[in-house]
Amino acid sequence: MAAVGEAVHPSAAKAAPPAIEVSHLTKAFYDSEGDRVTVAVSDVSFSVARGEFVCIVGPSGCGKTTVLRILADLEQQLGGTVKLNSATPPAMVFQEASVLPWLTVSENIAFPLSLKGVSRAKQEARVSELLALTGLTDFAKARPHQLSGGMKQRVSVARALVDDREILLMDEPFGALDEQTRLVLQQELLRIWETTGKTVVFITHSVDEALTLADRVIVMSPRPGTLVANLTVPFERPRDVVEMRRDKRFWDMTYEVWRLLASPAGA
Ligand SMILES: Nc1ncnc2c1ncn2[C@@H]1O[C@H](COP(=O)(O)OP(=O)(O)OP(=O)(O)O)[C@@H](O)[C@H]1O
Ligand SMILES: [Mg+2]
Repeated sequence: MAAVGEAVHPSAAKAAPPAIEVSHLTKAFYDSEGDRVTVAVSDVSFSVARGEFVCIVGPSGCGKTTVLRILADLEQQLGGTVKLNSATPPAMVFQEASVLPWLTVSENIAFPLSLKGVSRAKQEARVSELLALTGLTDFAKARPHQLSGGMKQRVSVARALVDDREILLMDEPFGALDEQTRLVLQQELLRIWETTGKTVVFITHSVDEALTLADRVIVMSPRPGTLVANLTVPFERPRDVVEMRRDKRFWDMTYEVWRLLASPAGA
């Protein structure tokens, strides 16, 4: 350990183990007779540093959800290894807002805490923090049918944050939303991420969304999904999701990722 006043060498921070290490990951789905049906993911390797925001982009069916489900331990891989270096299991946000219709917004957000038997006072304190963080304070007592799609997704995000897991896995959480709502939620997610310092893996179809949010973008090929590129996104933080579009580098990178998606082998 460094003595008081002694400078910590920058390489010491870099030596910290990544939050997520995926090595030569392969996944195939078999039919009930055991014949191989679909190779979903083939030999994918990447790592995610603690506190990093990584987006995965790739065409429909290339295995993005499969990778995320394996990270969440909802699916077993066929080959390779997956290691999560965190004290808590990851939290997951799914593409469809997964709110319980019979519970209020507050009760939905508190749900993971109530399952754990956390005291009512602690639940209330934590939920009011999350309501404020996600801009839902005025809707604490509303039920899901009274909310817009974007608000329901905010509830899903708040619930994923409520028990303070270190790793957040997000599967196209804003995919079903209109462009404007999406932009608002992207800005909010960036603010929340900057406040909480979580490690995030975020799947999206949208190159634009990936470049807006991520420190790094992983590009996958069509099925079977392989890793085509692992790109560092250079924009400084905090980011303004509208203003960053004035930066020429945004459009240069958009072009680069589109070129990789259009021609994954030859690019
Ligand atoms: N439980 C399953 N049983 C059989 N095949 C599956 C299963 N889950 C996924 N697959 C197949 O694996 C491949 C990858 O699916 P996955 O859902 O990971 O793709 P994706 O990249 O998330 O696509 P999208 O962008 O459309 O959500 C697809 O061909 C799909 O049909
Ligand atoms: Mg998917």
